[in-house]
Amino acid sequence: MSNSIQVFNKSAFGEITEQQVTALRDEAMAALDTLEQGSGEGNDFLGWLHLPGSITDEQLADIEETANRLRTTCEYVVVIGIGGSYLGAKAAIEALSDCFAPYKQQHTAKVLFAGNNIGEDYLNDLMTLLADRRFGIVVISKSGTTTEPAIAFRLLKDQLEKQVGKAIAAKRIVAITDARKGALRNLATQEGYKTYVIPDNVGGRFSVLTPVGLLPIAIAGFDIKALVAGAVEMENDCNEQVLTYAQTRNALYRAGKKIELLVNFNPKLHYLAEWWKQLYGESEGKDGKGIFPAAVDFSTDLHSMGQWIQDGERTIFETVISVGEQQSRVIIPHDDADLDGLNYIAGKDVDYVNKMAELGTRLAHVDGHVPNLLITVPALTERYVGQLIYFFEKACGVSGYMLKVNPFNQPGVEAYKKNMFALLNKPGYELASQEIQEKLRKA
Ligand code: PA5
Repeated sequence: MSNSIQVFNKSAFGEITEQQVTALRDEAMAALDTLEQGSGEGNDFLGWLHLPGSITDEQLADIEETANRLRTTCEYVVVIGIGGSYLGAKAAIEALSDCFAPYKQQHTAKVLFAGNNIGEDYLNDLMTLLADRRFGIVVISKSGTTTEPAIAFRLLKDQLEKQVGKAIAAKRIVAITDARKGALRNLATQEGYKTYVIPDNVGGRFSVLTPVGLLPIAIAGFDIKALVAGAVEMENDCNEQVLTYAQTRNALYRAGKKIELLVNFNPKLHYLAEWWKQLYGESEGKDGKGIFPAAVDFSTDLHSMGQWIQDGERTIFETVISVGEQQSRVIIPHDDADLDGLNYIAGKDVDYVNKMAELGTRLAHVDGHVPNLLITVPALTERYVGQLIYFFEKACGVSGYMLKVNPFNQPGVEAYKKNMFALLNKPGYELASQEIQEKLRKA
């Protein structure tokens, strides 16, 4: 078994030639150099690049101590955040968790998520669950002003204070935010919460290896030292994998393959794909450019999206994340009657069947003119999840620079907020309110 993730691009050739990919080598190397030298646009947001190697044992011990305190005092810990302030933690926890953990864990804090939507029923259902339960809150917002988490935090803080009193509530709340500015920083200072800082030079979608991701992951019971160690391995040595991925996906994009499907054959990776979608979508989708990042869970989605992928418009390519070893083994039993006709795979483990589904699908899709990139991951352990996170982050920076965009800003996410605030009559948005009323009249 290899001891790191690997990237293979042979099955991309056909729709594009190997030469088209190798022709981008110099460009990819230049983009890598721009990233590593910090000489490109957005270079004030490169704090993630050497983050893993700079995390100290003391910092990890402090996070673990807070996590253990919350784990032992709370039945539930609600992680409040949206976008980059929740997807990384959610992705790692799902990738590492027992799929049915919420129904099994008896003695460990259950991590729940809120503030990533404005669903009234969602919040009501959560508050009902938490009534009379021992719960804590980790509230995460870099800006400290994002509406979705702010609403969830106001509600849950109020509930917690009513349930246990202000003093105990303050001990069960941890805030992760900017070092100095924002409403959350002010509130945390005033209420005396334990806080962690999101460094100025680390953007939300690149923040999973800061306390933003590490604290929730530790609360969920996972080994953050091993996760960071995996990321450090990639920080020290992943340029070949990064270049292969960035070069190939850019060559495909330039050849008209505008949509990248991140494919998994393991339900635990669903949220890793959600995290990846934000990472690549927010980093590359700007200036009228960018590969559209989409994701599918196979074999589930082969029964819904399979037709389109095999046979629809040929503007897609796939990047398959293939996991080597499963954490467990389930053998398909022999059945004398064989009424379901499955004896031909009796004695095989389930993952063997899954691997054949994966291989068969990749071959079929390549035949159907869907170029294929393959990323192999030895197993879903903390170490390899850490490797995957860092690899995708670095490849995103290189790929974005190849696309000639600033991969580290996200000006486009403000547009909906302006309209929403105008519609809600938020103070300071009076002019926008008038403008939007005018637009509504014309609509
Ligand atoms: O990547 C980003 O910067 C955004 O998606 C943010 O993560 C998201 O909007 C949440 O922002 P904040 O952490 O400031 O509440």
